[in-house]
Amino acid sequence: MIQEKKSPATLLKIDRATLTPLHRQIYERFRAAIEQGVLRAGDRVASARSLASELGVARGTVETAYNQLAGEGYFSAQGQAGTVVSPSLPSRLSARRGPRQAEVPAFEQTLAEIAPPLPLQLGIPALDAFPRKLWARLVSRRARATTTADMFYGDPSGHPALRAAIAAYLRVSRGVLCHPSQVFVTGGYRASLALSSHTLLGKDDRVWIEDPGYPPTRQVLRSAGQRVVPVPVDEEGMVVAQGMRKAAKAKMAVVTPSHQAPLGVSMSLARRLQLLDWASQAKAWIVEDDYDGEYRYAGPPLPALKSLDGHDRVLYAGSFSKVLYPGLALGYVVAPDSLRDVFAQAAQTWSNGSPQITQAVVADFMREGHFSRHLKKMRLLYARRRNMLAEALLKALGDEVRIDLQSGGMHLIARFDRWQECDEELARRAQLAGLNCQPLSVRGTANFRDQGLLMGFTNIGSAVQAQQLATTLKAALDRRL
Ligand SMILES: Cc1ncc(COP(=O)(O)O)c(C=O)c1O
Repeated sequence: MIQEKKSPATLLKIDRATLTPLHRQIYERFRAAIEQGVLRAGDRVASARSLASELGVARGTVETAYNQLAGEGYFSAQGQAGTVVSPSLPSRLSARRGPRQAEVPAFEQTLAEIAPPLPLQLGIPALDAFPRKLWARLVSRRARATTTADMFYGDPSGHPALRAAIAAYLRVSRGVLCHPSQVFVTGGYRASLALSSHTLLGKDDRVWIEDPGYPPTRQVLRSAGQRVVPVPVDEEGMVVAQGMRKAAKAKMAVVTPSHQAPLGVSMSLARRLQLLDWASQAKAWIVEDDYDGEYRYAGPPLPALKSLDGHDRVLYAGSFSKVLYPGLALGYVVAPDSLRDVFAQAAQTWSNGSPQITQAVVADFMREGHFSRHLKKMRLLYARRRNMLAEALLKALGDEVRIDLQSGGMHLIARFDRWQECDEELARRAQLAGLNCQPLSVRGTANFRDQGLLMGFTNIGSAVQAQQLATTLKAALDRRL
């Protein structure tokens, strides 16, 4: 396969101060790049003419280096196709492989081997059910229509069509009233949280987070210099009174009210009002992480907390990872009206924006009605897959398992009260058998004592597969695998 790699100028910094002739430097850098695996068999190298102009040396200098590399078998001239790294190189070079060269193929191999999703992996939508043909059509339509203006820098706050499509969707489906200029498109939830915390918080400001919670929330805030205050969660969501007791003057609270991550409970109306009340009195901000609020299997999705936000204290964070697919790397945050300009300024400072064409395709997908159809289909599919997994676990494990099926989300929690071992050990056993179950306990602080295994059900293709997974799990937990 012929492919262009890094710009040759990046590989070859010419040093005019040394006594080593320029052609020798070029020769040595190419050789090192090949031996270290940066250039691989079959990679095309720049023509002597273009490399000479890029490096500011005479064409003959580059030709001398290329001739030597060809003479020693590193390069091979391919007529019209130009010069490539010799396709028969690996065996010849094997004796000289240094550690770095061994690392490069191993790295690529690892990525190929861990192609997601692993069975029971959390938080990944049904990749087999994504409408790929339709998506490909929308992508190619946008690609064909690309104008010169589309190739320029986009608005770092987001593509206008996507911001408008998100605002329209939120109004209808999540009860969130906002203007498109309040919607800021980001690379995903963490980017939304980082943008919000950098914009609104100072070093050492305290922030309530849920205990247990989503680990990246804590990591992002800590790395931005904030002090996180874990607040317990019960069957009504974050216990606001505890937050007030621990840090009444905190500057922010980050919550997952639709479907608490990881326990799956929905925040009660009383708690929502209490939280909003606290925020308006303390002049604190609330980040509502609505990562999978669309997925609810008993009744319609609950309106977002933001829909009750009379004092404009809530920043609503959404992500396309769960409703489309994570490789898109697109999320967004809706800023309160009063913060619209501050956020626009921050986006300008912090970001080049997200890829224009991807944003435009997502906007088309939403505006043309595909998004709501897709969500509707996924709700039905996930409800089925969730039941398949729950039934299979009960069949394989009987009363050894207690299953917590919350009314929404993309995972269930299985508890194994009769096992002596902690959930970390059970998860380790399951993982050794290739099942990506995650322990519940590690998502909380030392005060959080609940145990169980978190299991994603969205990618379970059939009842038979569910049975196989449950049987494998039982054997793994019993240490028969
Ligand atoms: C609680 C929670 N929030 C947000 C997200 C979305 O994150 P991202 O946009 O980075 O995919 C996830 C994804 O797993 C999550 O579990």
